[in-house]
Amino acid sequence: MRAVDIIAKKRDGLVLTREEIDFFIQGFTKGDIPDYQAAAWAMAVLLRGMTPQETADLTMAMVRSGKTLDLEGLAPVVVDKHSTGGVGDKTTLVVAPLVSAVGLPVAKMSGRGLGFSGGTLDKLESIPGFRTSFTVKEFLAQVRKYGIVLAGQSRDLVPADGKLYALRDVTATVPSIPLIASSIMSKKIAGGAQAIVLDVKVGRGAFMTTLEKARELAQLMIQIGQQVGRRVTAILSDMNQPLGRAVGNALEVIEAIQTLRGEGPEDFVEHCLIVGAEMLILGGVSKTPEEARELLSRTLEEGEALAKFRTWVEAQGGDPRVVDDFSLLPQAPVVLPVLAPQSGFIRGIDAREVGLTAVTLGAGRERKGEPIDPAVGIVLGPKVGEKVVKGEPLLTIYARSPEDATQAQKRLLEAYSWAEEPVPPLPLVYEILRG
Ligand code: URA
Repeated sequence: MRAVDIIAKKRDGLVLTREEIDFFIQGFTKGDIPDYQAAAWAMAVLLRGMTPQETADLTMAMVRSGKTLDLEGLAPVVVDKHSTGGVGDKTTLVVAPLVSAVGLPVAKMSGRGLGFSGGTLDKLESIPGFRTSFTVKEFLAQVRKYGIVLAGQSRDLVPADGKLYALRDVTATVPSIPLIASSIMSKKIAGGAQAIVLDVKVGRGAFMTTLEKARELAQLMIQIGQQVGRRVTAILSDMNQPLGRAVGNALEVIEAIQTLRGEGPEDFVEHCLIVGAEMLILGGVSKTPEEARELLSRTLEEGEALAKFRTWVEAQGGDPRVVDDFSLLPQAPVVLPVLAPQSGFIRGIDAREVGLTAVTLGAGRERKGEPIDPAVGIVLGPKVGEKVVKGEPLLTIYARSPEDATQAQKRLLEAYSWAEEPVPPLPLVYEILRG
């Protein structure tokens, strides 16, 4: 078999066999197939698509590129969650310790920033010392001891996704249903959790911009999970405007800690309760969303989720003092408050533009493996539907230089649209598919 023939076959819109997909993925993982061929193949997949069977075969080929964890016996159920990628989406930083504090172990594999969307690994690594690379042994030991672990792809765990993910980030090959489904589900299957909640983002700041496409992605991932005996729920949630207020790595860590302290923005708190409730239901802890929400709210109020966050940070080598002292997180040298240029109701805040501006500020990558700047980003003020008076604070930019901040200001102001009449707030969730 030759990589070039497999690329040509997909370029011509033909269906790849399981053997061809496996040959390509294992060859790429070992380094026998170079990045330029993998990039061409990924583009062919993006343009030509894959059948559900090809996507399932791709997922399992990626799982086989590393080890698969067996969490049976660690606890009756271990739960995992994953977002398909959004702007300001720091949900994991809150729901992982929250659900774990309730008593349901959380074992999760996450990713880095992808295109205009942020990545959980990058966010957590803005905490000094926080480590996200684990051997299988370490991963298992941590979930057993603390009931919470979060890792990235590694030599042991889905190395194929680690390599392909970084390549897709910089080759415009992210928004492809088969590539997203296989990337996410390979991590979820290898990670070993029996119950998986997928947060499928829809809108301008998501890779799926329509509800129809998001539903297709969700159903495909549910099917792949079920084929290997996992319980999967998918929440189709809004990503037309950023989630919460902070966009940028350390800034999002701060917002997550504030939320765990009970001081989070309303939309983000609500989103965390919805996702957390589905995790508890799927994990067999609660029977109904109402019962789950009550348990989660109580755990938040009593400070147990914050305490679990502290334990988690420390367990992964991070400095737990950040919980009480945000000055220990990376700080941007330039802070530029931006005032509302007009009075009116906010009709829209284009999440994609906000995400791309954050990448330009240095919060994401433009080349593979590039370091990011954990300190930079944006903190929004009023959100869609809120009334603003000209000259009131609209947002704050955190930048490396005054020039970067000025450029970001121009772009961000263009990301807002305004209305003279009241505008209804955006929904948080469109539908929940319980597989
Ligand atoms: N999250 C992932 O892990 N992979 C994708 O391709 C998109 C979001």
